[in-house]
Amino acid sequence: MQERLQKILSQAGVASRREAEKIILDGRVKVNGEVVAELGSKADPDNDVITVDGKAIVVAENRVVILLYKPVGYMTTMKDPEGRPIVTDLLKGVKERVYPIGRLDYNTEGLLLLTNDGELANTLMHPSHEVDKGYLVRVSGKVSEEQIGKLTEGVELEDGMTAPAKVAPVSESEHNSWISITIHEGRYRQVRRMCEAVGLSVVRLKRSRYDFLEIGDLKPGNFRFLAPEEVTRLKRKVYAGSGRAPRKTGIVARRQPSSPSPGGRGRGGGGGRPGGKPRG
Ligand code: URA
Repeated sequence: MQERLQKILSQAGVASRREAEKIILDGRVKVNGEVVAELGSKADPDNDVITVDGKAIVVAENRVVILLYKPVGYMTTMKDPEGRPIVTDLLKGVKERVYPIGRLDYNTEGLLLLTNDGELANTLMHPSHEVDKGYLVRVSGKVSEEQIGKLTEGVELEDGMTAPAKVAPVSESEHNSWISITIHEGRYRQVRRMCEAVGLSVVRLKRSRYDFLEIGDLKPGNFRFLAPEEVTRLKRKVYAGSGRAPRKTGIVARRQPSSPSPGGRGRGGGGGRPGGKPRG
């Protein structure tokens, strides 16, 4: 996208807008090798080579946070040696180089945050930031009160006892039951292993909540940009008590992708009612 040169220079941290104007007027700026010394000239920071005194400038990306409904059958890594689809394949039209905050298994669906804000991602993934994550779990057969009780209190896994969880029955049919489990830990395949430990066989696992963020009406493969207020709320929450003030968000308001999203592969698929209330 074409933008005024002085804006590009100031966003790249070269100088304030006023100083950038002077730098341009002094003939120190080149766009694709040509001196541009007129105020109001435009360039495309993504495609043009812009130099000041012969040095290329680096334009910082806007920091964004994306909430994606990860469908089953996608990896949350940035590359897969086996060539399986990866979640960023779904983000058609997103220019920023975002990566997932944490992981969901290949066979797990639901709410996944992605960002290009390294500080926020690292803070959210750190075990000391106990962000609640809510899951809906469909298991074979019925779930006993004893099983709910054990999951709630914490179960012994290979890597130690799990912290107490919030667990509640949601619905039950002849062959399956849905329960909700909220945990704040983020161990490898934790929910599946917790269920197995109490004798429950998981047939479907969906993350529906991440702290105050809900998957809402998003369909598998669809995504939305978090609003700046949501990012600020997330930052306030995780930076509170860490002794660090949240940085200015730097998060820009974005036009939301229309529904379905530009990259909404797998929309409406996945079987069952992934976007709606679970049923057995
Ligand atoms: N727990 C799991 O078992 N898998 C996930 O993907 C997330 C939580």
